[in-house]
Formats: sequence, C-alpha cells, structure tokens
Amino acid sequence: MPVAERQDFGSDPTAVRESDHYQQEYISGFVDKWDELISWDDRALGEGTFFLQKLREHGVERVLDVATGTGFHSIRLIEEGFDVTSADGSAEMLCKAFENGRNRGHILRTVRADWRWLSRDVKERFDAVVCLGNSFTHLFDEQDRRKALAEFYAVLEHDGVLILDQRNYDAIMDNGFSSKHTYYYCGEDVSAEPVHVDEGLARFCYRFPDRSEYYLNMFPLRREYVRRLTSEVGFRRTSTYGDFKETHRIDDPDFFIHVAEKSYDSLDGGQNDNPAVS
Ligand SMILES: C[S@@+](CC[C@H](N)C(=O)[O-])C[C@H]1O[C@@H](n2cnc3c(N)ncnc32)[C@H](O)[C@@H]1O
Repeated sequence: MPVAERQDFGSDPTAVRESDHYQQEYISGFVDKWDELISWDDRALGEGTFFLQKLREHGVERVLDVATGTGFHSIRLIEEGFDVTSADGSAEMLCKAFENGRNRGHILRTVRADWRWLSRDVKERFDAVVCLGNSFTHLFDEQDRRKALAEFYAVLEHDGVLILDQRNYDAIMDNGFSSKHTYYYCGEDVSAEPVHVDEGLARFCYRFPDRSEYYLNMFPLRREYVRRLTSEVGFRRTSTYGDFKETHRIDDPDFFIHVAEKSYDSLDGGQNDNPAVS
C-alpha cells in the first residue's frame, strides 16, 4: 500500500470523526519525527516504573500490546523480561516498531489487528493487554469502544488485566481549551495543543521545531465514562490513577491510567476504585 505523504482531513477537518481515520493520520513523516524528537530514554524516565510495577503486582508474564505504535512499550516490556506480542491496526506502525526493535537487538512478534476484530487475528490468551499512549481515544463510536473493550476482555486469561491510559480530557473540556492546555514533550521541542474541542472531538496540533505541523482527531473520553464502559463489558474492578506515578498534581493530571481486572477470584462483589485520583 503506498504511504501517504500528507495527512488528509478533507475540506472540513472538524467533521472527521471516524474510528478508521487513524490509518490516514499516522503517516510516515509524523511517525519518524515523533520518534526522532521524543527520546525514548526521556519517555521512560517520565513514566518511571509505573506500568512495570502494575504488571508485576498482577503476576503478569504474557502481554499483548494492542497499540504498539513505534514499539516503545513493547520493547521496554521485552527488555524487562515480559513475553510480548505486538499488535496494531496500522501496518506502517508495525513496520516502524519492527525496525526499532531490530535496532535494539529484538525480533518483535507482530500481528496486524484492529481492536474491534482482535480475536479474529489473535488466538492466544494473555495475562495482560496494554493499550497505551492515549490510543483508545481513536475510536469515535460507542459501539466501537464497547466492541474493542469486549475483544480485549476476550483475549485475557480469566485473571488477566487491562491497562489503558488516556489524556485528561475532563480538564480540557471543563476548563475550556482557551485556557491554553499546551503540552510539551522533551523540553520545548514538540508541543501538542488542542485546536478544536467539543463533546465529540478533540483535534490536536503537533508542532515540531522545523515548523512542521501534524494533526490528530480524537474522541475526548471522559474518565468516568471509560470506567463505566470497562465495568459494563465485564471487568470486575477498575482502578484509576493520575499520571504515571505518585504526583502532587493528583487533582489535575495530564493522564489517567485505568487498570481493569477481569478476575472473579475475589469475593468482594467487585467495585470501581479510584486510588490515586480524588
Ligand atoms: C497514539 S499512538 C500510540 C502508540 C504507542 N502506544 C505509544 O504510546 O507510542 C496510537 C496507536 O493506536 C493504533 N490504533 C488506533 N486505532 C486502532 C484500532 N482501531 N485498532 C488497532 N490499532 C489502532 C494506531 O495505529 C497507533 O499506532
């Protein structure tokens, strides 16, 4: 398939609200630039050991990374001793992840799979599914979100765990994006700024030092909505954390991380916890 050189949002970019459009947004120029500028070491420092700790707490060995992207988490988890399968709906992303893995001495086990039909392409079972880097936000229809979560649930072992993160859209929507929620990565090299926000769309612009700009159209997931969906598709308990570590900005984190447990082992009747977010 030829690789598009420019993002195509048509004549009315804010009208683009489709779950399939991610395929056209992650073009190679954007992906290459992102990887060049956001050093993996800095990103690893920013996240700390949060995910590793959560996975180990749950006794996880086998992980399915469903949003592999360029491979940051897959490779990090391999290097930490986990048995990782790397899935993504974008062939281009998987190629880049494979290349990144090879450059670090790893052969990634990759599967091209859309979340909504995951179990069609992935037949094994895993102790954990990770969907990281604000990826779930690419689904625009409620049915797609329910289907994807149900598929994540299906590929998990009976006591498996889903770790899914998301940007704090509540803050962006409730405080208004005129308050200038601009997020900087890696010092001030790359900025990500919402250029349009309504209840059905968060359109972000990513600006790079060479003045190039790329956009992503995303669905602004509210924290409580995601927690409700995980519970409605069958996860027994969902704990939500603010940012990747204990933080003094717990009331207004940039990211939420949901840890959804499938287990029916405990007899507590199941519940939704909010350990690190008030
Ligand atoms: C924001 S990137 C994150 C990549 C990586 N996890 C990271 O943190 O660097 C989102 C990824 O989700 C993938 N994706 C989006 N919608 C998808 C879907 N419906 N099925 C499978 N992959 C999808 C995209 O191809 C992209 O690689």
